[in-house]
Amino acid sequence: MFILIACVVVLSATAIAVIRSKKPLKLILAEAKYELLYSAMGSKYMMHDILMRKKNITDLPLKSGKTAVITGGTRGIGLEVIKLLLKCDINVIIGCRNIQQGENLLPKFREEGISTGNIEVFQLDISVLESVRKFAELVKNKHDKIDYLINNAGIMFGSYVESRDGYESQFSTNYLGHFLLTYLLLPNLKKSGTENLKSRIINVSSCAHIMGKINFDDINCRAQYIPGEAYAQSKLAQILFSNHLNELLKKENANVQVHSVHPGLVDTGLFNDTNMKTVAPWLPSLFFKTPERGAYPIIHACLSPVLEGKGGTYIDNCQVVPASDRAENVELQEKLFSFTKKLLDIETKFYVPAKGYAQSKLAQILFSNYLNALLVREQEQVRVYSVHPGVIDTDIMKSHWYGSIPGFVRKFFFRTPEEGAIPVLYACLSKDLENNGGTYIMDSKIHAPSEKAANVKLQKEFFDFSKNLIETKSFSTLE
Ligand SMILES: NC(=O)c1ccc[n+]([C@@H]2O[C@H](COP(=O)([O-])OP(=O)(O)OC[C@H]3O[C@@H](n4cnc5c(N)ncnc54)[C@H](OP(=O)(O)O)[C@@H]3O)[C@@H](O)[C@H]2O)c1
Repeated sequence: MFILIACVVVLSATAIAVIRSKKPLKLILAEAKYELLYSAMGSKYMMHDILMRKKNITDLPLKSGKTAVITGGTRGIGLEVIKLLLKCDINVIIGCRNIQQGENLLPKFREEGISTGNIEVFQLDISVLESVRKFAELVKNKHDKIDYLINNAGIMFGSYVESRDGYESQFSTNYLGHFLLTYLLLPNLKKSGTENLKSRIINVSSCAHIMGKINFDDINCRAQYIPGEAYAQSKLAQILFSNHLNELLKKENANVQVHSVHPGLVDTGLFNDTNMKTVAPWLPSLFFKTPERGAYPIIHACLSPVLEGKGGTYIDNCQVVPASDRAENVELQEKLFSFTKKLLDIETKFYVPAKGYAQSKLAQILFSNYLNALLVREQEQVRVYSVHPGVIDTDIMKSHWYGSIPGFVRKFFFRTPEEGAIPVLYACLSKDLENNGGTYIMDSKIHAPSEKAANVKLQKEFFDFSKNLIETKSFSTLE
């Protein structure tokens, strides 16, 4: 039945498009192909939403004191998301084009009996990079911490329009503006997250991502503009971005997780520019989700404790499901991420704790060796050693995955703290080392350190650099 309706819609829409349009036949056929794909996919997902309707529900926990930022939301799914966030006593910052429409919301919700939460409204045109920067500045000036960022604003189809910055409108509205906003608000999201309660970024994507490809050579799709193709590209880009950002944040041990969501096929103004709206305007109100039902998966991604620590996932009807293979392609995720950074001329730096640890440990050996050489030259009776105590079962392991190995296994492979103390005592007390300062001790023996640690030029450079940091003039009279 659904398939039949879809076919009728497609054929009628295609016929109308051919008759009305003065476009070349090749383009009409390409558009018809997308129309067909969208209708087939739409029918499938419409049925899927109906079958899953009992699962498309989530709790509304009280989250007093929490702050959410949402783009769009004066109508459609976003409006219902705001309503549900208020019910959870969350303060909602709305970024919208029409401030008045945003400010009308709270009195309306209060009239409806929602007495919790609060709303602040700031001007935002997500398709204009300058507007995104201004909005982020306003939010950051008033809010040090942000708990949830919901990248909801979106447009679908329509004719070819370029944003003020020269990007195809769906790419800039659905993806690029949100990438920049996320980058600008990330420090505030990091501040609010904790190990057990991470802050969350939600990208409202779509099942349309399945048809998406990233057209790196012609990101604006100028060569042949098919609105459906450009929409799918923007929605795929959102998931690629979500997954890669989540991975970077994980490596950094940051307390922020990222999800992408397909809200379902929802009866909103998003379909106003579609042929379906001309041919079968009754279809969405009969078969699509209501905006409230479409808001549930987004609220689930934001608030559900079930998803704690499960960033990098794609949510559909309040369930974690796999996104398309292309969306999960790590190489493509990385490629799009650096491509976007170049477009926006931004440099994202993510802290990798393991790298920081390794640097600090190399620094200790460089320092030991250089200081020892200075002391020898100065004929001072002090010697400097660096020691690797072994891999020891102490609390320091808690921040490494080693710490998650069960205690009885750790006991088998790791040394005890007492065993770890032996090489340190050896460096302190052993007569063998009397004339062997500037050495690296492992297993109570002298070992060659890494090539980098033994590099005398690097030792000196790093020594001078460190002195500057602590504003010390000299350690030794010979310097
Ligand atoms: N409806 C569906 O079936 C469906 C399916 C899958 C995914 N989605 C996604 O869900 C999200 C919400 O869509 P919806 O169905 O709620 O659509 P909608 O009813 O058309 O609402 C779109 C919202 O985005 C805002 N917006 C559009 N362009 C903007 C811009 N340049 N700057 C700031 N805000 C802008 C609109 O604000 P204005 O009032 O200022 O225009 C409006 O609040 C979109 O990302 C969409 O792709 C929807």
